[in-house]
Amino acid sequence: MTVRIGVVGTGAIGREHIERVSRVISGARVSAVADIDAALAEKAAAEAGGARVADAADIAGSLIAADDVDAVLVSSWHAAHAEHVLAAIAAGKPVLCEKPLATTAEDALRVLAAEEAFGRRLVQVGFMRRYDPGYRELKRVIADGGIGRPLMMHCAHRNRSAPERYTTEMAAQDTGVHEIDAARWLLDDEIVSAQVILPRATERRFPHLRDPQFMLFETAGGVRIDLEVFVNCQYGYDIQCETVGETGLIRLPDPARAEVRAAARVGTEIDQEWGGRFAEAFDVEVQAWVDSVAAGAATGPSAWDGYAATAVAAATVEAQRTGAVVDVDLVERPAFYA
Ligand code: NAI
Repeated sequence: MTVRIGVVGTGAIGREHIERVSRVISGARVSAVADIDAALAEKAAAEAGGARVADAADIAGSLIAADDVDAVLVSSWHAAHAEHVLAAIAAGKPVLCEKPLATTAEDALRVLAAEEAFGRRLVQVGFMRRYDPGYRELKRVIADGGIGRPLMMHCAHRNRSAPERYTTEMAAQDTGVHEIDAARWLLDDEIVSAQVILPRATERRFPHLRDPQFMLFETAGGVRIDLEVFVNCQYGYDIQCETVGETGLIRLPDPARAEVRAAARVGTEIDQEWGGRFAEAFDVEVQAWVDSVAAGAATGPSAWDGYAATAVAAATVEAQRTGAVVDVDLVERPAFYA
């Protein structure tokens, strides 16, 4: 079976996913695309080898519910994700939604309710760190007790630069949400509070943005997590994660890069963009999703994971505004997501 995929949002990551589905992974092809920017959609459709351009004014009807679409890949802007995922559930179609699942906990809860009412898992959230070899090794060692009981986690998420439309809230909603999910997954624990500390801002940013930010989290089990989000760091795309346990410490490896010794220096290249750093993780993620669609059984990060991460990000946004330690009030996890 070739899974026919409809892609909503043909910007940076949408086009990367289209390339991936068309030329890297197996078992799928892109049959339709939609974007509120018609020119981008036309370009992406051509790159996909002749996919149909659906009506952006009626994405639910013209793309998501259409007969030539078996499964939906949502890579539009974050605020549109929940609406597109709900349309996919209404059409009974599997959906891979780029992070975040939603921008408010209320919208994420609507997704949980719709999926539970449908009666079978359809949603996978694009937390692709879970498919990265380095993160998987961290998960394995921590779960095997290799560093003892985890106590603390130190994380950093640095991007070279952020565009003008990037906001202070997005540091939590779009960027920190990766580490929020990774921490929940690595520790097998929920985050119960968030706090934000704002150091002196870099001058290399658009004036409306607070950058960098320290985010501090606490889990139900008492683990403390610090996360530096710095999206105008200038030097590269740099993801760090270190977990300290009672008997040891484990640190995310830097990507495998050949060591260069020249001009009186020794060093390795630093990735400049997320696409390069996590290329393998994205390939594995999308292949696993396509395989799960073909098998008719969703795997991977669930709508519950999307909800929990969104709820923590929402508390973090409130903490940005108030400076207070903000509690995360998760609803009880439904048995459906056990
Ligand atoms: P982008 O701005 O390059 O592309 C988004 C596209 O969605 C644009 O072409 C825009 O016109 C379109 N769009 C927005 N609202 C729409 C709507 N209602 N209907 C149809 N099209 C719509 O942004 P980018 O970087 O591709 O990010 C998209 C999403 O993917 C974001 O949620 C972002 O957080 C996520 N992302 C995830 C990454 C990861 O590491 N997993 C990396 C980069 C992005």
